[in-house]
Amino acid sequence: MGQQLHLWAIEKVDHKQVLSASRMELERKYAPLLCERLDLGNYVSYTGNKQVPVLRLYRYKEAFAYPFVQEMLRNLSLSEKDFILDPFCGLGTTVFTAGLHRIPSWGVDKLPVAVFVASTLPLLLKMEPGQLREAFEQLQASVESQSPAPVADDVAIMKVAFPPENLLLLRRWKASIERLGSPLREVMMLLLLSILEACSYTSKDGQFLRLRREKPVAHPTEALRRKVQEAERDILFARQLGWHRCWQQPVITLGDARQLPLLPMKGLPNVIITSPPYVNRYDYTRSYSLELCFAFVRNFEELKALRFSVLRSHIEAKVSPDEIPSHPTVVEVLLTLKQRCDRLNNPRIPAMIAGYFVDMERVIQEWARVLAPEARVVMVVDNVRFEGEMLPVDLILCDMAEQAGFGTEAIWVARYKGNSAQQMGRYGRVPVRESILFWRKR
Ligand SMILES: C[S@@+](CC[C@H](N)C(=O)[O-])C[C@H]1O[C@@H](n2cnc3c(N)ncnc32)[C@H](O)[C@@H]1O
Repeated sequence: MGQQLHLWAIEKVDHKQVLSASRMELERKYAPLLCERLDLGNYVSYTGNKQVPVLRLYRYKEAFAYPFVQEMLRNLSLSEKDFILDPFCGLGTTVFTAGLHRIPSWGVDKLPVAVFVASTLPLLLKMEPGQLREAFEQLQASVESQSPAPVADDVAIMKVAFPPENLLLLRRWKASIERLGSPLREVMMLLLLSILEACSYTSKDGQFLRLRREKPVAHPTEALRRKVQEAERDILFARQLGWHRCWQQPVITLGDARQLPLLPMKGLPNVIITSPPYVNRYDYTRSYSLELCFAFVRNFEELKALRFSVLRSHIEAKVSPDEIPSHPTVVEVLLTLKQRCDRLNNPRIPAMIAGYFVDMERVIQEWARVLAPEARVVMVVDNVRFEGEMLPVDLILCDMAEQAGFGTEAIWVARYKGNSAQQMGRYGRVPVRESILFWRKR
């Protein structure tokens, strides 16, 4: 119902104005600023973190990589005098890298598991070699006699995700770990959360958490033992790199990029290095539902509330009829998709697109409010295509930023992505850009 009303509202927009092939105009306007940097292709995804101690311990698939942030620090010539904000900090790649360069930084994320991971990974730099192994062995001796800790077991996925004996043992491990003192407790909990997927029939291999009954499932104690060994190896590796000596602790806050919390430290941020959710139907509260149900929400109601509080990049997002994106290109795409609504593989895609751009406009206005004059923004975004319609998210956001008081200095194309085989068959192989946007506050 909301969907129909919304599109009805879109129809009231002046068609002559919006159907002016605004995408072509946008491409023309920004063509002089576009350049290829395909050498950064591996670094705008999590794969670039696979060789990086500490960060590789938690597989946050939507992250960009440590070498990408390093490259940006170099490119912007940042030093200890700067102040970096990442308003969508995820596992904290930006703030972790900034910390290792002694640059003050602030990370914000709406997902409690992301805030926990970003805050806990740096604690590994404080661990003595052997400390985690010892804690694991002590806990293992009594884990079977622990009463299982509570989890949000009214959530549907929790009823089918694990073999029952695994779920029971994981809950006993949770109870054991909760008895530890800080920071061992947080670090061991991080390692426990990082093995949930391996101990379950699920995999994060698309926009959702998929249930794969045929999947081999790890034994919790053995998986945790291996993870502790990996962490011990990384603690030593990080020490060899001298990371524990050159560390500036970032501030990490649970918050909403559309309405940032109060600044937690002195001064105004003068740099943003970030990557928002992409408008690709990806639902973080589903992909990370096991972790959330294990340690961050008490029941389905809380999980649902979280789902509706994150940026509207997924199809369950609620959009009210009067929320119409201001950018003409978004309206143009919505009108075109409306004509093909019956062919879209989900009828809520237009509502998601509308909600996404309304949210991103708020996000950019918020940056204009909190950043220092002349501040710079580096943002990685992905374009998308629905039913053949290309949505140039990168250029639309540059245009929105211009309205909010930023100038675009460059757009680097880091990757071209194909699309689904089905779409390519129907529309030909028109690749979709994944871009790095560079803005400066005027
Ligand atoms: C692409 S990921 C960022 C990954 C990050 N660059 C990294 O390296 O880990 C986008 C993040 O935005 C977060 N997010 C979603 N809605 C948000 C909101 N309204 N405010 C702040 N963060 C939000 C998600 O939880 C997710 O961690």
